[in-house]
Formats: sequence, C-alpha cells, structure tokens
Amino acid sequence: EKGGYDHFMLKEIFEQPNTIFDCLRGRLDATGGTITMSGIQKYADQLTTANRIIMIACGTSWHAGLVAEYIFEEVTRIPVEVEYASEFRYRNPIINKGDVIIAISQSGETADTLVAIETAKEKGAIILGVVNVVGSSIARASHGGAYTHAGPEIGVASTKAFTAQLAVLTMIALKIGYIKGTLTEKRYMHLLNELNDVPEKVATALMQKDKIREIASKYKNASDSLYLGRGYNFPVALEGALKLKEISYIHAEGYPAAEMKHGPIALVDEKLPVFFVATKDSFHEKVLSNMQEIKARKGKVIAVVSEGDDAASALADDTITVPYADELIAPMINVIPMQLLAYYIGVSKGYDVDKPRNLAKSVTVE
Ligand code: M6R
Repeated sequence: EKGGYDHFMLKEIFEQPNTIFDCLRGRLDATGGTITMSGIQKYADQLTTANRIIMIACGTSWHAGLVAEYIFEEVTRIPVEVEYASEFRYRNPIINKGDVIIAISQSGETADTLVAIETAKEKGAIILGVVNVVGSSIARASHGGAYTHAGPEIGVASTKAFTAQLAVLTMIALKIGYIKGTLTEKRYMHLLNELNDVPEKVATALMQKDKIREIASKYKNASDSLYLGRGYNFPVALEGALKLKEISYIHAEGYPAAEMKHGPIALVDEKLPVFFVATKDSFHEKVLSNMQEIKARKGKVIAVVSEGDDAASALADDTITVPYADELIAPMINVIPMQLLAYYIGVSKGYDVDKPRNLAKSVTVE
C-alpha cells in the first residue's frame, strides 16, 4: 500500500506531480483561458465584491493560507487576513457584511477550524471550504468551496495536501482577479500557463532527492535551525521549519529573512544551519544580502535556488536547485525540497516519520 516506498510520507511527497495535476484537471484550461470551479462560481459575486477575505486554518493549512494572502492581495486587491482557527474562535471576531471566510483543512475534521467557521456563519459570513476529505465536517459546514483532490493523506506530516491547497487557492485568486479586472488579461494568461507547468516542475524538483539526502546527513545532528524566506516564500520557510520539527524533532524556527536582524541573528554561530528559500523573485537581491549576513557570522547556509543562479549558489555552503517559476506559483515548487529534507533527516535519525511522537493526523479536540 506504500507503493514501493519506505514510508507514506515519501510516497505522498512523490505523488505530488500527479495530485497537483488531478487538482488542476477539469478546472484549469490554460489555452482557453478559463478556470471552472462550480462551488466557487456560485459565490463569485460575493468574492469579487468582498471587502475582506479571512482565511481560517491550523498548522500546514494555515501556511497555505499565508501564501494565499500574498497571492489574493496581489491579484484581487482585496484585503486578506489569515487567522489561526484556535485564536479566531475565542476572541469575539469582527465579521462585517460582505466578508468572505475561506476555511482550509486537509482532514475537514480539525475541531478548532470547524467551530471557528460555525461561529462566523452565525454572524452571517459566507464560508468557502478548501478541503481534501470529501463529505467531511468542514466541507459540510461550508456554503461552497472546492475540494483539493489530493487523495488520502496517511503520513501525519502534511505534504501533498499543502501543494493541492495552494493550487486550489491560486485558481480561486486568479479567477476572481480576472473577473474583477485587477489582473490584466496578459498576466492572467501567463499565470494560467505557469500553473499548468507546476506538475512538471515539481517532478524536476523531486529529482534532487539524492542531493537532499546528502545534505540531510550533513546536518542531521544539529540541535537548532533557522528557515528564512521573504514574500511568497516566507510561508514556505515556516512550512519547512514545521516539517523539520514534526519529523526530526530538531528545533526549527521559520522567519521572514529580514526579521532575523531583530532577534534570531543572535543564535547564529558555526553550528547553526540556516535554510534559505532563495529562488529568483522580486525580493531576490534582498535575500542574497540576508544570506551574506548569515555567512559573515559563520552560520551554515543551505539554499533552495533557481536553476542556473550561480550568484546565489556561490553564497551557500549547500544548494538545492529547482526550476524557475513565477513568484506567485513558486511556493508549490520550493516546498518540495523542504519536505524531502525533513523526511531524510527524520529517517536518518531512525524516527517513525509517518507517526511522529505526540502528533495525531487530525486534531479533533481543541
Ligand atoms: O486537517 P487539517 O488541514 O485541518 O490539519 C491542520 C493541522 O493539524 C495540520 O496541518 C498539522 O499541522 C500537520 N501535522 C502538519 O504537517
């Protein structure tokens, strides 16, 4: 049932070219320039005229919401807030007429997320679910939405559900941006094509697995680590850190790369691995100077860089290359090395990566 893989986690990581393809199939027509999502179409008016969108989720799904915040704000110009379900539900949240809630959940059973959307529903919000498990509680409690179609995720560490969530959220954002006219036809068509290319680019990123395994064995004895990225890749850094914590029990902190100067840089010494998401985007030069700042303090820099980016590679002790993608789309590709790194570090330490200690696949108690 693990399809020849040692663990479900590895199988699910390697399934991603297919699961992303399945998620896009029947929805995205890059040539025709259309995105078809019936459960979103029904609420297209509410979304295009929304004063605010609130994303509610926990854990990895919350990270997908953070990436989506950057994408939605850029292409729809609608202000987005991303909330931890557990915080939202207990603080008498302000819900105004015209607010749309997007609940993101793999299992569809996360207790805090479920109660949070029920609270928002009572206050009159429209709830759209981005859920993996068909017929789950969150799917049923939502007015509309879209399934992620990633198939059953068994590994406790969420991997393929995350990339499918990003694919769905990106499609929603592009659809709304196009209807609203906040996204030009040219940029819209370009992004549809970029989205269409994701399964292939993810397959290419997966080919770095042996290199990543080597890097994993080099850093597996670290006691602490930092993950840094900016813009669309800041949430990818958070997700990389969460994966490492869950699977290898190494303390990992994700930070926006520039924020490190405001505290975490004090941790940097020759023993500290610092993982950078440093692919080419509008923040690239800034990220390179952040890498230099770590090097100057003798930290070990491990960087995910775009193919052919010698300048970034020259600054790193170890590099993992991934195909270049438009910055809006890149998180789906850049997270792949993060997942593999956590996997190989966990396995090399002899841990049961499919069932990490203290964790359950779905958190059905608050
Ligand atoms: O099923 P959900 O997406 O609602 O679950 C949310 C979190 O519990 C989940 O993402 C958790 O953080 C994972 N173990 C992350 O790998």
